[in-house]
Amino acid sequence: MIGLGHRGLELIESMMACPECEVAAVSDLYEGRREKAVQQVVGRGAKAPKSYADWKALVHDPEIEIVVIVCDWEMHIPMAIEAMKAHKIVASEVAGAYSIQDCWDLVNTYEETKTPIMLLENCCFDEFELLTTSMVRHGLFGDILYAHGCYGHDLRGEITGGDINRHYRLRNYEHRNAENYPTHELGPIAKILNINRGNRFLRLSSNGTKPGVGLEAYTKDPRCIDKTLLNQHFDQSDIVTTTLVTEELQVVTIRLDTSLPRFYSREFTIRGTKGLAQGDANMILSGWGYHRYL
Ligand SMILES: NC(=O)c1ccc[n+]([C@@H]2O[C@H](COP(=O)([O-])OP(=O)(O)OC[C@H]3O[C@@H](n4cnc5c(N)ncnc54)[C@H](O)[C@@H]3O)[C@@H](O)[C@H]2O)c1
Repeated sequence: MIGLGHRGLELIESMMACPECEVAAVSDLYEGRREKAVQQVVGRGAKAPKSYADWKALVHDPEIEIVVIVCDWEMHIPMAIEAMKAHKIVASEVAGAYSIQDCWDLVNTYEETKTPIMLLENCCFDEFELLTTSMVRHGLFGDILYAHGCYGHDLRGEITGGDINRHYRLRNYEHRNAENYPTHELGPIAKILNINRGNRFLRLSSNGTKPGVGLEAYTKDPRCIDKTLLNQHFDQSDIVTTTLVTEELQVVTIRLDTSLPRFYSREFTIRGTKGLAQGDANMILSGWGYHRYL
C-alpha cells in the first residue's frame, strides 16, 4: 500500500476484512503516517507490515504481489508503470491519467508486461448503482438512451486547507483546469453502457465556468484556515460539464462540482425506454409502477 492518508487507512480496513489478503508493506513520505498504518494493522491482530519511506523499494520488494496506489494523483501513473514493469499487479485509486500520453504509456506497459491493472472505482459497487446495473442487464429499463452523473461535493475546506494538511488537491486547483474527478459517476455508467465491451465513447465536449471564482471567494471566508491564500488565483473552474456520445448514440452528461456551496450527490441517472433510475430521489420507475429504494 503506497499512500497512507485519509483513504489509505480506510482501504487497509477493507483489505483486512478479506482473510486471503495480507497487508505486507506500507509506504508514505511521512514517518508518522507509516507508523499509524503499521499500528492499525497490528491492532487488528496481524503481522506488522514492512515500512518503506521510498515507494520504489516497496514495489521491488520480492515478497509483494500487489501494489495498491492511494497517494497524490500526480504519482498514480508513474507508480503504476514502475509496478507493472516489476510484474506486480496494480490496484490504483481514482482519479486517473493526466494526459493522453499517460493513457498510451499505460496501454503500452500492459502490452509489454501483461501485468493486470485495475482502477479502484468503489462507486461502481454502491448499492443503488449495483441494483440499477442488474436491472439494466435484466432488460427492465429497456433500451438505454441517456445517463447522467456528477461529482457534487463541497471540497472548499479540503482544497484550501491543502498546504496546512499536506493535501494534493490544492496545487491541482491552483494550476490546472480539468474534469479532474470523473470516475465516481462515469464508472457505473460505463459498466451499464458496456463501454469497451462492445460499445465505446466516440467523442466528448467539456466546458468550464470562469476559473477560480468559488475558491477565490472562499479564501475571504472565515472558514478558510489558510489565510495566506487571500489573493491567490485558482485556475480550476468551479463547474465543468462534459457531454459524451457513445458509438450506440447514447448521450452521457457528467459534471464536476466541487468548489461552490452544495450537498454531496452523484446525481446518478439512467434513462431507458421502459424506465428510469434516479439516485438523488432514491427512485426507480420500471414497468407500471415506481419504487422508492431504501
Ligand atoms: N474512492 C474514494 O471514495 C476515495 C476517497 C478519498 C480519496 N480517494 C483517492 O485516494 C487517493 C488519496 O487521497 P487521500 O484523500 O487519502 O489523500 P491524502 O493526502 O490524505 O493521502 C495521500 C498520501 O499519499 C502520500 N504520498 C504522496 N506521495 C507519495 C510518495 N511519493 N510516496 C509515498 N507516499 C506518498 C502522502 O504523504 C499522503 O499521506 C487519491 O487518489 C484520491 O483521489 C478515493
